[in-house]
Amino acid sequence: MASSQEQSATWESALGRVRLPLSVEIDGRGTVTIPAISPEDLGSPGFKQSHGCRYALMSGAMANGIASVDLVRSMVRAGFVGAFGAAGLGLPEVVKAVDQLHHDLGDAPGWGVNLIHNPSEPALEWAIADTLVQTGVKLVEASAYLNISPAIVYYRARGLRRDPATGAIVTGHRVIGKVSRVEVAKRFLAPPPQSMLADLVRDGHITAEQAELASQLPLADDLTAEADSGGHTDNQPAVVLFPTMIALRDHLSKEFPAVAKVRVGAAGGISTPHAVAGALTMGADYVVTGSINQACLESGSSDIVRKMLAETRQAEVTMAPAADMFEMGVKVQVLKRGTLFAMRAHKLYELYRAYDSLESLPEKERLNLENTVFKKPIDQVWTETAEFFKHRDPEQLERAAKDSKYRMALVFRWYLGQSSRWANRGVPDRTMDYQVWCGPAMAAFNDWARGSFLDDPAHRTAPLVNLNLLYAASVLLRARVGQLQGLILPPGVPNPRPKTNQELEALLSEAQSQPRIASK
Ligand SMILES: Cc1cc2nc3c(=O)[nH]c(=O)nc-3n(C[C@H](O)[C@H](O)[C@H](O)COP(=O)(O)O)c2cc1C
Repeated sequence: MASSQEQSATWESALGRVRLPLSVEIDGRGTVTIPAISPEDLGSPGFKQSHGCRYALMSGAMANGIASVDLVRSMVRAGFVGAFGAAGLGLPEVVKAVDQLHHDLGDAPGWGVNLIHNPSEPALEWAIADTLVQTGVKLVEASAYLNISPAIVYYRARGLRRDPATGAIVTGHRVIGKVSRVEVAKRFLAPPPQSMLADLVRDGHITAEQAELASQLPLADDLTAEADSGGHTDNQPAVVLFPTMIALRDHLSKEFPAVAKVRVGAAGGISTPHAVAGALTMGADYVVTGSINQACLESGSSDIVRKMLAETRQAEVTMAPAADMFEMGVKVQVLKRGTLFAMRAHKLYELYRAYDSLESLPEKERLNLENTVFKKPIDQVWTETAEFFKHRDPEQLERAAKDSKYRMALVFRWYLGQSSRWANRGVPDRTMDYQVWCGPAMAAFNDWARGSFLDDPAHRTAPLVNLNLLYAASVLLRARVGQLQGLILPPGVPNPRPKTNQELEALLSEAQSQPRIASK
């Protein structure tokens, strides 16, 4: 008689051979079959076909090039979709990254670039969209939209044409809209506003035919429902948000049948096999990872941040004022452990709300900021800020010259902007000011990886981490299929552990045959 340990090991091994269907003899039920479920079987075939990828998993954009060229290249080459983190970068840096991606990945359809709504710098948002159009980028992850902007409509419509042979509309520019609110989702599930299309035609940016085609399609091909995540987030639970978005899509498709084709993906908290299996069971066409990729070797972050992330435990993240929408009171989710950034950023927002200008700050507050937060005189911060905007967006300086509260916002935003750059560069004397965008997903991943080789950040490569999640989700789903048919597994089974590249290769290259096992 096998010991309970041996029995558990037998089940782990049988369920873990995911490419093999498994026949199980169950007392009183006869033979039930657990199908083969491989990582490439997960998610919607439409997503994989449209983006030319093997796996229905995308690494989401991470600002300031944290979702780096390296990260996108390695993910796409391994069969995933990847979006470059263009937010926060200037136009020349985005152009350089796009050139590199074109060079490295060519026409591979799985790579894209983030187009982020930028209400405080609309000219930059437009310039990025125009660059993506001019350089032939075929996929955009559109995010942070509250309202639809001309830039995203321009990008979308400029890729539309009618296939002369079939008459079908060809969407040359694919859009994955990332949303956390129903009102924003509705805008991505509808055609662009007519008035915006008309303005774009009038100004010669798109043709009348493109406007006409755009009015027949939803703005997005895919809609990512982003639950509580790193960076910008509405902190919604995935189990609540995802069904809401599915219901919305299905409801809107009654009026506008083209909406039925929009695939809905799940982001936010996707960092464990259980989360992937859960999202897919809810009906996700694809999943998006974020926080865990920043902790991987390919990210544009620094080793010191990767180490901080690998040590993150539950409840060590918090909300803090966002650099890009500071004045509107928008917040982002950041790491709390090992940095005072969140506390200092909250202080800046409090001061911004309480005073009308830098000149009206009480002497005590001003000195405190200069000594502990900026670590330089406010005048010097302003000089650096003015120099930055002189090149990037001079309109900001014109506005600041007329509005002293806005000038104060720009100075405070200097800290919010620099703090993430210090983290990315691993500036040693600024660790206490690191702004590291991170969601609760990070701690959940660390808990899963603990005790395995992936505990060590030096072993975390993005394709390996993400494939591990899909593989282990396949194991969990196979177990659930068995359980739904009456299979009773030993306690604690299945517990798929992280696998090395070699182990995954061996498990995922098994030829089909059908082992049998008896359930007692
Ligand atoms: C460091 C970091 C930076 C991010 N920056 C962006 C961004 O610039 N644009 C964007 O669309 N999403 C951004 N995100 C969100 C991710 O693309 C992804 O949707 C999210 O992280 C998924 O949730 P998770 O953090 O729980 O995995 C960022 C996330 C992180 C962790």
